[in-house]
Amino acid sequence: MCGIIGYLGYRDAYPILINGLKKLEYRGYDSSGIAVFYDNVYNLYKTKGRVHELEKKIFSCKKQVKGTTGIGHTRWATHGIPDDINAHPHVSNSNGIIMIHNGIIENYYAIKIILLKNGFTFKSKTDTEVLVNFIEYIKKENKFSLEKAVRISLNEVVGAYSIAVIEKSHPETIIIAKLGSPLSLGINNEEFFVASDPISFIDYTKNVLYLKDGEMAILKKGEKLDLRKIKDNHKLNPVIEKLKINLKEIEKGKYKHFMLKEIYEQPKTILDTLRGRLLIPEKIICIDGIESNKEIFLNAKSITIIACGTSWHASLIGEYLLEELTRIPVEVEYASEFRYRNPIIEKKDVIIVISQSGETADTLAALKLAKNKGAFVFGICNVVGSSIARNVDAGAYTHAGPEIGVASTKAFTAQITVLVLLALIIGKHRSTIDDFRYKFLCKELGSIPEKVDHALKMDDAIKKISQVYYNVDNLLYLGRGINFPVALEGALKLKEISYIHAEGYPAAEMKHGPIALIDENVPVVIIATRKGCYEKIIGNIQEIKARRGKVIAIINEGDIQVHLLADHVIEIPNISEILSPLITVVPLQLLAYQIAYIRGKNIDQPRNLAKSVTVE
Ligand code: M6R
Repeated sequence: MCGIIGYLGYRDAYPILINGLKKLEYRGYDSSGIAVFYDNVYNLYKTKGRVHELEKKIFSCKKQVKGTTGIGHTRWATHGIPDDINAHPHVSNSNGIIMIHNGIIENYYAIKIILLKNGFTFKSKTDTEVLVNFIEYIKKENKFSLEKAVRISLNEVVGAYSIAVIEKSHPETIIIAKLGSPLSLGINNEEFFVASDPISFIDYTKNVLYLKDGEMAILKKGEKLDLRKIKDNHKLNPVIEKLKINLKEIEKGKYKHFMLKEIYEQPKTILDTLRGRLLIPEKIICIDGIESNKEIFLNAKSITIIACGTSWHASLIGEYLLEELTRIPVEVEYASEFRYRNPIIEKKDVIIVISQSGETADTLAALKLAKNKGAFVFGICNVVGSSIARNVDAGAYTHAGPEIGVASTKAFTAQITVLVLLALIIGKHRSTIDDFRYKFLCKELGSIPEKVDHALKMDDAIKKISQVYYNVDNLLYLGRGINFPVALEGALKLKEISYIHAEGYPAAEMKHGPIALIDENVPVVIIATRKGCYEKIIGNIQEIKARRGKVIAIINEGDIQVHLLADHVIEIPNISEILSPLITVVPLQLLAYQIAYIRGKNIDQPRNLAKSVTVE
């Protein structure tokens, strides 16, 4: 993951780099660093920890960081522990080339051996320090310009990267390149802004170029952008786009954390996902990407959905939805498993990839594999213009707006919303749903934002429950049918931000093993809504209670039966079972948040995690 930033222009680089890095911290926050260039000298600062630690360190040096060219980095450690030495930027042996890098150089070890044999030494454990020295080696051996040395070196590299490189003696030039990791370039008159994510330079320009894989750009002060292919140096025409991000969307506003803001945004984000796609009075659903490829979906013998993490949980819900409403068999795959097991894909097979960021390396690689084998790939992404969105044959954006909290919440409900729409459209065309049910579900879908709003009102009750259980070591999450993936998602949310061990299970599986864990110290969160195996769920609750287990039940309003059995209940509005994950997940998100809050954890940036997993 990692976030990279660069600036070349006429303003002071330092504040631009620091502010940009703060916006990129969601990509990694193990360590950070900057290098700012002034005449032929540069100031390099790096430190373990977050960007504010870096600011403190620089402030304590009592030196003004002068210069109008600079690069910066916030790290999610891959090679080498998070410490000052492994932090970026990295500097070549001669002290002449300085580089930042996001990605992994897979053949770094082989390159390192060559460099060691040629007298190079290394301070850090990083693959980045190997690459910057490799560039220096190629440059010196062949008397190449930096630009040529970067290009030739990158042609030898296996792996993924987005890099920015500067030569101490030429601080008026930055060279950037990309393969597999995201890289965008902001352009504003005489200024260039380089970043892993354009949100870090949106304050300065909305003109953005998204570099494609295999491209590099030479940025020179006062000169036009020079975009080239890394492979053969072929000159390319840059395509500049206009950024469409609203600044308010990337601010916390009245909320303590982005995660809480994003949980509370869900009535609006679900509405945004439905906007212009579900026409409620007419009961018409229309999504362009589906409409123009309707025949492909209608003729699909099977559908495979591929994703990671929370998006994988949404995919499991998609499996229930699509099979129920379209009667097309659906398989769900972890992207990381799918791509390495020589999957059987035939021409015209339908693959759906789901990703909030649109940059997840495994999902992107799985999508490319499926496309190479001739499959039709449909994408469900949140980030507009992301790599996955650009590589699929067709797709639908979730329109949930920027999700900053590392723990995904509003993106999840937006993904499910798109899957519901997809299942309803295909089901209607295949006549696998009758008209009455179709219209009924359309109407209910339209009522979801209001019902989610209602579910959010349980926050105070959830706070009280959290006070009771915030100190436990383990929790079980149970659900049945379409709410089984919601149990998985609830457990993942809790693990990610509170560091409490939690597992999700299909409720009926409990008696095949997990029941051995249950005693008064292992609370069980159970989704016990009235529809779908309700009686069986009541049986499961009885089994837990018989073993002195504590039960926190998500129930429908007015459900007396579970109320009397459970230790705590969280009431949510009634809805058809097939749409219920859009509501049942909300109290689980809040429960994870409130427990993590009481435990005093860093909710938006949990340890060891990053928002966008761009390494394999
Ligand atoms: O951006 P993506 O949806 O592809 O990300 C997939 C996972 O990395 C992501 O959902 C992760 O599990 C989140 N931290 C979950 O909260």
